Amino acid sequence: MEGHMRIISALFVLAMISASCVDSDSAGDDGPPTGQQLYVSFDSRVDTLLAQMTLEEKVGQMTQADQEFLDDVDDISKYYMGSLLSGGGSDPATNSLEDWRAMYERYQAKALETRLGIPLLYGVDAVHGHSNVIGAVVFPHNIGLGATRNADLVEEISRITALEVKATGINWDFAPCVAVPRDDRWGRTYEGFAEEPGLVAELGAAAVRGLQGADPGAPERVLACSKHFVGDGGTALGTGLTNAGIDYPFDRGDTRMTEEELRRVHMEGYVTTIAEGVGTIMPSYSSWNGVKASGSRRLLTEIVKEELGFEGFLISDFAAIDELPGDYKSDIIESINAGMDMVMVPAEYETFFTLLKEAVEEGSISMDRIDDAVRRILRVKFASGLFEEGWSPMADERLEDAFGSTEHREVARQAVRESLVLLKNDGVLPLSRDLTRIHVTGSGSNDIGMQSGGWTIDWQGALGAITTGTTILDGIREAAGEVEVTHSVDGTGSEGADVVIVVVGERPYAEFFGDDLELRLPPEDIETLSRAAASASPVVTVLLSGRPMIVNEELESSNAFVAAWLPGSEGQGVADVLFGDHAPTGKLSYTWPRSADQHPINVGDEDYDPLFEFGFGLTY
Ligand code: BGC
Ligand code: BGC
Repeated sequence: MEGHMRIISALFVLAMISASCVDSDSAGDDGPPTGQQLYVSFDSRVDTLLAQMTLEEKVGQMTQADQEFLDDVDDISKYYMGSLLSGGGSDPATNSLEDWRAMYERYQAKALETRLGIPLLYGVDAVHGHSNVIGAVVFPHNIGLGATRNADLVEEISRITALEVKATGINWDFAPCVAVPRDDRWGRTYEGFAEEPGLVAELGAAAVRGLQGADPGAPERVLACSKHFVGDGGTALGTGLTNAGIDYPFDRGDTRMTEEELRRVHMEGYVTTIAEGVGTIMPSYSSWNGVKASGSRRLLTEIVKEELGFEGFLISDFAAIDELPGDYKSDIIESINAGMDMVMVPAEYETFFTLLKEAVEEGSISMDRIDDAVRRILRVKFASGLFEEGWSPMADERLEDAFGSTEHREVARQAVRESLVLLKNDGVLPLSRDLTRIHVTGSGSNDIGMQSGGWTIDWQGALGAITTGTTILDGIREAAGEVEVTHSVDGTGSEGADVVIVVVGERPYAEFFGDDLELRLPPEDIETLSRAAASASPVVTVLLSGRPMIVNEELESSNAFVAAWLPGSEGQGVADVLFGDHAPTGKLSYTWPRSADQHPINVGDEDYDPLFEFGFGLTY
């Protein structure tokens, strides 16, 4: 105990020293404070505000409701809410830029009606562009960005995402996901840049730079959130959640490994994003050796705050504390005492408010812990510019012109072409513009929803023309010049074409619904491909998927095969590569197995014998 106290006071001294360094830094010629020091640098202003706050106002700051569950907008001021979110599918009526802006402004105005007028942080899952809003640019999901190996591009994409998010007023993005998915059968594999920690760490840091910039309070920047801390990508088969009577094998499961392995494989993205100054971190739904991350003091306090020096705040995942053992009150006590600072409630905010307050009054949670949580939240609010002169509760309309702009789409198109991984080519690619007819076919050939995947407009994504953009077919038509382009969905019409381009793959999914033990194409896609192959025309297969799939036979029956991941709204990027206007440069950021039962299979394994190795990718 005494030793423990000594360590704590040593840490305290260290913190004081670094805090005083900040003061001198910010006063000196070395420029404004960076990294985590940015947050600490606001502490004297924070403490002045904190000293004026009642317990209820503090509890309110720790509460995040989802706007779709607000019983009444006045509840924002009634419960002194610190934050709101729009979870997947939690959209305003028409889901347009204007409606999002109006929604944000209405809520922010309510927060300003409170005694202290502390503005809201408003969070959204802009995980591949501001992808909930119709008309936003939708970038490739992270798995595709991992294949680009291009940190500058990831930074640029994140900068654009921040700007489009801010055009709706929203100031907080639950991104980047720095998961290191180790078993592709997990349905969130595509949210991770790579199976390899170093690449995740590098691209995650780039994403934070792009989202927050040097000053997260700048008009065109947003607050970032590294997620899901920690080990979300390492859950063991058969440990996932049960929902509506269905067992999902991986999602929200248990990551069973030593602390040494957890650090080596899953922690790197937090080390680098914390160094980069990420202001928030989201603890995972998953468990580590049977203990839910949301209730782990080891993870939430000792490791991330005390050891890694994180000075921002922890935001729970969506109703994640509810999954802790015991009743809701004990969930709250356990999680806050473990180190959670803000809770994504998201519906029962009145109950949460009452129980958290009660727990403090009874002494189950100390006032020090509450003050620490609120201090962290307020620091981040200060750093986000919410208390600066000139800050406005209205969205910045100057950003509107850039929303979904051609310039932004050009960057997405570049990301698409750099993300494509050419797995096979007998010489049919690149396509010549002297051909007579190209036949384009397949379930994904003309479908923005399918090429965008989950977390697009809706939580699980959806098929069809769900937002603006260019389908792969449109892109090919645009690029083909004089070549005739014909189209069918099911492979018919392939006979007699000079080449058949078959676009097939996974239907959109997100968390838990995406867990899949087989990773095979749906039967109708296999049929489409066999029709194309039976035509005697050369076949180029373009696979849309959130992960490597088991497609040995499909590879066999194709003359060329391109892994296109989930490219998003700019389908021309695919044509850019097929026609050779840009040679393929993408490299696998995940190992491609021979069979599903090779999972988990990752670079660096003993007896590593995949179909295509991590880093594989052909070019011409
Ligand atoms: C997901 C998070 C997301 C949150 C808010 C959760 O279900 O795990 O990644 O940020 O919902 O939508
Ligand atoms: C919400 C998502 C959230 C999920 C978690 C959904 O109803 O829309 O944002 O991530 O629930 O279970």
